Amino acid sequence: MKQSFDKGFITPHPVFIIATYDENGKADAMNAAWVGQIGGNQLSMSLSPHRTTTNIKANKEFTVSFATKEQVEACDYVGIVSGDKVPDKLEKCGFTVTKSDKINAPVIDQLPVAIECKVIELQEEFNETRVVAEIVGLKADDSVLTDGKVDLEKLHPIMFDTVGLCYREIGASVGGAWKAGKKYEKDN
Ligand SMILES: Cc1cc2nc3c(=O)[nH]c(=O)nc-3n(C[C@H](O)[C@H](O)[C@H](O)COP(=O)(O)O)c2cc1C
Repeated sequence: MKQSFDKGFITPHPVFIIATYDENGKADAMNAAWVGQIGGNQLSMSLSPHRTTTNIKANKEFTVSFATKEQVEACDYVGIVSGDKVPDKLEKCGFTVTKSDKINAPVIDQLPVAIECKVIELQEEFNETRVVAEIVGLKADDSVLTDGKVDLEKLHPIMFDTVGLCYREIGASVGGAWKAGKKYEKDN
């Protein structure tokens, strides 16, 4: 029997690290799990007031890196403290950055895959900034590629379990997309 609840939610969420520069070129990063893809080349995210939010409003460019199992402590740390209060938060957790060659935003060296984004639209609602951005490029370390494509078995991205309040790794493939269901086509 199914129990009925008044509130619904989505879980798990992929975990992303948003990296930005401030107006003086100082890098900051934060953990963001309320991020989604719109169509083929746009991304949306929901930001409360943070140093990152201020930087995105000022600079309009940022990177989004996949948080990984190997860097789980650093990825969580940048979601706990603000660059406004701890200006050296990246150094503290061992993150270094290289400036993207496409946009004015930092790429975190320790996270193998970063998406490069430019803001299309900022909406203010309920003390939240909803960001819609165009994906203009992607950086991926050779170490996580197989046949020139990002390989999740090498990347080890983590998911945020919003019920258990913990990070989880992704398991093995259980079926091909647009393939597993084909077994029912044979009977029709
Ligand atoms: C698992 C996790 C997910 C988070 N997701 C979001 C999010 O989607 N949006 C948001 O505004 N803050 C989110 N946060 C909070 C920010 O990462 C946090 O407030 C951070 O310290 C802001 O840093 P900054 O002030 O240096 O930008 C999340 C934190 C954690 C730990």
